[in-house]
Amino acid sequence: MAVAILLVGGFGTRLMPLTRNTPKPMLTVAGIPVTEHQLMMAKKAGITQIVLATSYLSDVFTPYFGDGSQWGMSIKYAVEKEPLGTGGAIRNAAQLLDTQESVVILNGDVLSSHDLAEQIRQHEAHDADVTLHLTQVEDARAFGCVPTDAEGRVTAFLEKMDNPVTNQINAGCYVFNPRVINTIPLDTVVSVERETFPQLVSNGAKIYGFLENAYWLDIGTPKALLKASTDIVLRTGPGLAMPGSIIDPSAQLTGGSCVGRGASVGAGAHIDGSIIEAGAVIGSQAIITNSFIAAGAVVDKEAKIASSFVTKGEILPIPQ
Ligand code: GTP
Repeated sequence: MAVAILLVGGFGTRLMPLTRNTPKPMLTVAGIPVTEHQLMMAKKAGITQIVLATSYLSDVFTPYFGDGSQWGMSIKYAVEKEPLGTGGAIRNAAQLLDTQESVVILNGDVLSSHDLAEQIRQHEAHDADVTLHLTQVEDARAFGCVPTDAEGRVTAFLEKMDNPVTNQINAGCYVFNPRVINTIPLDTVVSVERETFPQLVSNGAKIYGFLENAYWLDIGTPKALLKASTDIVLRTGPGLAMPGSIIDPSAQLTGGSCVGRGASVGAGAHIDGSIIEAGAVIGSQAIITNSFIAAGAVVDKEAKIASSFVTKGEILPIPQ
């Protein structure tokens, strides 16, 4: 059975100041950390052995996920003293796996509902070196693109360009043959996207694309993170209050807002299209629109907050 490495060690600079005390993959989407969504996605594909490749704020993961038994999984932690880049992180984390099985790599900031079990099946049927999930986007100019031939083999990894040759992009979920991971140098900063993949293609390795346009979102920017959370909440209702939150009956949650564990929302407050993280306190009659309220932050009564980050010490506009 395949095993997995989750890449969760990046700085998440585009989400500052939310990522000052919380690593990006631990930010919540519909009330639970992005990493937990990914664990459940991996489990659905039959994976039960996971390594979290951590670096920045590595201590935050262990108290939450422990040994993984709560999720019916075995979770280990590989900690890089200095971030090794995506390739270096994979090589470092793979030392804890010691496996002949296929190794699934998940970028820690992508939510995807593609059929991972089928991606693994095709990878093994092709006896491929790497099989990447590809997704099609309307406008590929903001992404590097990944053309494939008639058999689905990747022919190049192209940097961002004004006239992309294809709208297929790397969706951040790879299946590796473990022998390929062993070719990445140990204790060296390596980017799998910019170095390992292009080198493999130019050496004639068997790199396949697995094209599936299921729900897919990279939550690396504030807008995308809010969209991911509100999209998921809106599937079941206008708002979501997590267990242990206290919402005054006269308060309103709309636009897919989510209120995290232990957070409270006062009388008459209106939360629209927003994420309220665990333990935040929202005063009565406050109006919060399209905003993030960080864990433990306090919003005064009658405050009006729109398109902003609110942390314990500051209120900043979300860059548009
Ligand atoms: P930005 O700084 O906002 O670009 O975010 P980021 O630091 O997370 O970088 P990026 O979005 O390119 O990273 C993609 C995924 O790889 C994320 O899930 C990161 O957590 C992870 N990642 C990036 N660099 C490293 C690294 O050096 N080590 C580990 N373990 N993970 C990494």
